[in-house]
Formats: sequence, C-alpha cells, structure tokens
Amino acid sequence: MSENTYRPGLEGIIATETALSYLDVDQEQIVIRGYDLIELANTVDYLKVAHLLMEGNLPSPSEYHQFTHSLAERQAVPDEIFAIMKALGPHPHLMDSLRTALSGLATFDTSLSRLDPQSTAEQAMTLLARMPVIVANSYHIKNHEAIVMPSPELPYAANFLAMITGTVPDDTEARAFDQLLTVYSEHEMPNSTFTAIVIASTLSDMYGALVGAVASLKGTLHGGANEAVMRMLLEMKTPDQVEPQLLAKLARKERIMGFGHRVYMKKPDPRAMLMKDSLKRLVTTKGHQELYDMCVIGETVMQREKGLYPNLDYYAAPVYYLLGVPIDLYTPIFFAARTAGLVAHVREQYGNNRLFRPRVRYTGPRNLHP
Ligand SMILES: CC(C)(COP(=O)(O)OP(=O)(O)OC[C@H]1O[C@@H](n2cnc3c(N)ncnc32)[C@H](O)[C@@H]1OP(=O)(O)O)[C@@H](O)C(=O)NCCC(=O)NCCS
Repeated sequence: MSENTYRPGLEGIIATETALSYLDVDQEQIVIRGYDLIELANTVDYLKVAHLLMEGNLPSPSEYHQFTHSLAERQAVPDEIFAIMKALGPHPHLMDSLRTALSGLATFDTSLSRLDPQSTAEQAMTLLARMPVIVANSYHIKNHEAIVMPSPELPYAANFLAMITGTVPDDTEARAFDQLLTVYSEHEMPNSTFTAIVIASTLSDMYGALVGAVASLKGTLHGGANEAVMRMLLEMKTPDQVEPQLLAKLARKERIMGFGHRVYMKKPDPRAMLMKDSLKRLVTTKGHQELYDMCVIGETVMQREKGLYPNLDYYAAPVYYLLGVPIDLYTPIFFAARTAGLVAHVREQYGNNRLFRPRVRYTGPRNLHP
C-alpha cells in the first residue's frame, strides 16, 4: 500500500461496510437503515428506533410489546454493581463510573464469551435495559443519595428521566427527552463506534467493546462536548456576553465546544436543528428565553467568524438543562442512547469480521545500536 494513503485522523477513510447508518452530507440526511433519522425522531419513539437498529425493522405493535416487555424483564442491576460504584473515589466523573459499572456487569453475564447471534442479541438487550438504571444511579451514588429503581408503569424514556430527576415528566418533557435519546441513538462511524468495532474485531466480548466506547465518548472532542457547552453557556450568563466572550476565546485560539464536526464541518448538523426546535418548544412552557437567545447569538457569531455550524451537542445541552438533568449526566445519557447503535455495530462486526490491523508511516530513526 502506498504511503500516500495516510490521512491524519483517518479523515475520509472508509473503515468498514455497514447497513446500519450513513451520513449523506450532500443531501443533509442521516440515513438509519434506509430511514431519515430526523423523520424517525419526529414520528416514532426511541425504542422503535432501537428496535430498528438492533433487529433490522421498525417494530409491529406486537414486536414493540415484546421488545419493551423483554427490556423491562432485564432492568435489574446486581447490587454488587452499585457496591462497586459506591467504592469509587470521592469525585468520579460519571463516565468513569459508567465504564467501571459496565466492566463489572460483564462478569455477571454467563454468556459473555459466546459471540453467536442469539447470545449477542440477548447481551445487547440486557445492556440497553440496564443502561438507564446505571446512568441515573451513577449520579445518585456520587451524591450519596438512595438508589432508584425503574417504575414498571413508565415507558423507557420517561422512566429514564424520572429516575434522574425524581419527578415523573409531563408529556412535553417526556417527548423532548425521548427525541433527544433518538437523535443520539446512532451516527455512522464516530470515534466511539470505531473503537467498539476495533475491539470487537479481535473477537473480544460486547461489554469490553462498549467499555472502550465509553472511554472514547468521554472526550470533549466527542461526547464530552455537551457538558462543556452547558458550562460555557452558564459562564457567559447573559445574551450580551455571548459575542464578546466567544470573540475572546477565538482570539485565544480556543476551540468552541458544540461547533464543527469532522463529517459535516461546514454544513449544518440536522440533529442540531431538531434540538433547536425542541429547545424553542421547551422555552415556551418553561421560560429561560435568554438561554435560547444566547444559543442563537452563539450560532450567528460562529457562522460569521469561522463558518462553523453547531453540532448536536450545542443544542442538546440547553435541552438537557431545561429538562432538569444535572450537567454531569449529559455525556453518560448520550452514551446510554448510543447503546442501541453500538450493540448493533458490534453484532454486525461479529457477523462479518476481519481483524482491524492498520499500518503506520514510520517517522523514527533506524539502525541505532545499544
Ligand atoms: C469535532 C471536531 C473535533 C472536528 O475536528 P476535525 O475534523 O479534526 O477538524 P480540525 O480540528 O482539523 O479543524 C478544522 C478547522 O476548523 C477549526 N475548528 C473546528 N472546530 C472548531 C471549533 N469548535 N472552534 C473553533 N475552531 C474550530 C479548527 O481550528 C481548524 O481551523 P484551521 O484550519 O484554521 O486550523 C472539531 O470541530 C471540534 O473540536 N469541535 C468542538 C468539540 C465538539 O463540539 N465536539 C463534538 C462533535 S459532535
């Protein structure tokens, strides 16, 4: 292979084939198994999209019933996992709690080493079922609060939000949170998904692949951006501060979190626009118009100064905020939502595997002697 094929960050390199999703930048469309993600987010709920990703089709009513029933049956997280999370250091980043909990959970799955389609389908369901319980409780454990259990009466997304905030969300809140999970559910081949399939390609187990993906998604250039965006907005405080503070950051050559994207780069991220609409709706019922105004000013300034558009994390952050989600949980929730896409990619990798093992362009010395 020619050395010319090297591209820093593997930009534009086709790493694998997938039938799961594709970012069609020209058409400004995120394709999920043939459907448009934005249309899905506007018309069906997160679990239907999870079924689409994991099982290959949008569920019929009976398949949907079976899917939700099967998830509800698998929600119980072993007490030992909570004990492990409680034993962590005093100020854990919740992505580290999640990473550790997933590692621990692997040791309870007796099918761990089985990579056949039936076993991995069950592992995938268990992971999807338990993710909200682990994520919500990572926050409660960190804050020395009691462990919360899912309610058998509530649907998946409403349950997830209720376990976090302690209050059953109203329909508007539940819908906004469900839509947020949906837009985070799958996005082709970001760093975390690549990490997961690289790990899976050694025929390591699904839990290990997801543990690696958690570490990847934690970074601020990836999933960690949503928390950084909210901290930045809170620091700016008022709409009149947005422009001067952004200009000062840009003058210092700082990266502005929530802007830019390796694939979209100078085109809008359709998910961000959907979240912008969601934010607008939430503001009409919850107030905080100034938060919406700040975001819009930021968007205008970044477009004018850098030609950059907001990515999903930019508008997801204030949506989380208005839903009463603590900032520490923004990235873990992103991961929980992405579980549907990740397990589907890992299973696809097992089904058509070839070990990832690239080469390098060597830049060090040669022929040295001790
Ligand atoms: C997502 C991201 C890592 C993509 O990076 P990338 O494809 O490697 O792009 P590069 O880092 O090469 O950036 C290309 C140019 O755009 C600029 N740029 C990209 N994102 C920027 C941002 N958020 N703020 C300021 N400048 C940015 C870079 O400075 C660079 O400019 P230059 O050519 O004058 O040096 C990058 O846009 C970023 O850091 N964004 C902020 C973090 C974020 O929101 N991540 C969530 C992604 S969904």
